[in-house]
Amino acid sequence: MQDLLDSALARIRDASTAEELEAVRVEVLGRKGVLSALSKDMGKLSAEERVARGKLINTSKQALESAWEERRDSFERAALAKRLDAEWLDLTIPAPGPRPGSLHPVTQIQWEIEDLFRSMGFSVLDGPEVETEFHNFDALNIPPDHPARDMQDTFWLEGGNLLRTHTSPVQVRGIEKLGPPLRMIAPGRVFRNETVDTSHEHTFYQLEGMMIDRHVSVGNLIYFMKTLLGAIFKRDVTVRLRPGFFPFVEPGFELDIRCLICGGPGCPVCKQSGWVELLPCGLVNPHVLRASGIDPAEWNGFAFGLGLTRLVMMRYAIDDIRWLQSGDLRFMRQF
Ligand code: PHE
Repeated sequence: MQDLLDSALARIRDASTAEELEAVRVEVLGRKGVLSALSKDMGKLSAEERVARGKLINTSKQALESAWEERRDSFERAALAKRLDAEWLDLTIPAPGPRPGSLHPVTQIQWEIEDLFRSMGFSVLDGPEVETEFHNFDALNIPPDHPARDMQDTFWLEGGNLLRTHTSPVQVRGIEKLGPPLRMIAPGRVFRNETVDTSHEHTFYQLEGMMIDRHVSVGNLIYFMKTLLGAIFKRDVTVRLRPGFFPFVEPGFELDIRCLICGGPGCPVCKQSGWVELLPCGLVNPHVLRASGIDPAEWNGFAFGLGLTRLVMMRYAIDDIRWLQSGDLRFMRQF
């Protein structure tokens, strides 16, 4: 009898999982368990023996039950400890602050250039993205059948207007609005109906610049272009000046810089040439001055058109123009 009890107690204490403990409970305390076995032959016992047996059953039952509860509690405590461990939170760790947004790299470079030109007495002008044919083409000395129109694949709108293909129409608007003498820049978004690839987008950014005065020379132009490039790259960039043709400047130039991505041998950004066309410029064609309402006998000037998007690509060695408008946060968070 005592043996039975001892082994039952030992099994309760040795149960190593809650499931095992539950099995022991059924076996020991259950209807078919050890205790009920003890009360089976009660009928055959004498009155005295029955009293003794009854006491034994009661004390055994209490002993087994309390042992069982103790074991169960220890399992519960262990489970709780485990849960608390998993849910543990260090409230002294500084909270991750709000992640502030940042300016698009094109905006950053645009603002830098605006500051530079403002410091040299230039106004920053804005022009419409939906332009008239007159401002985008005719006033810039590009008549309807001029081949230069084909070079700038145009998104035409109903009613004869268009999405401006360059920021040059703001030259005309600037003169119309402010009159000479005049120093202005005009940053903005331009559109071309082009097949998109690593170096072409249908939408990109330019920054137009123009100075109109009485005796503006190519020397003045070169001075401002050098100042501009020095401020942008803050290092020596190799430049070359080639004759360039644009109907709205005469003479016209292409100012190229050595490709900052590959440094010369050639890559997709420089179309394997080692040079990147960055800064077309020239002296304002008298036709443009006349179309804008001022007298070319009295006034002249220079103009340039900086490819802002391409400039950003050069500055940060971005090898695919499509990143810039991708809206991809992995890209954007780097600036
Ligand atoms: N508007 C020209 C273009 O988009 C660039 C340019 C601007 C050229 C000013 C000369 C002077 O290609």
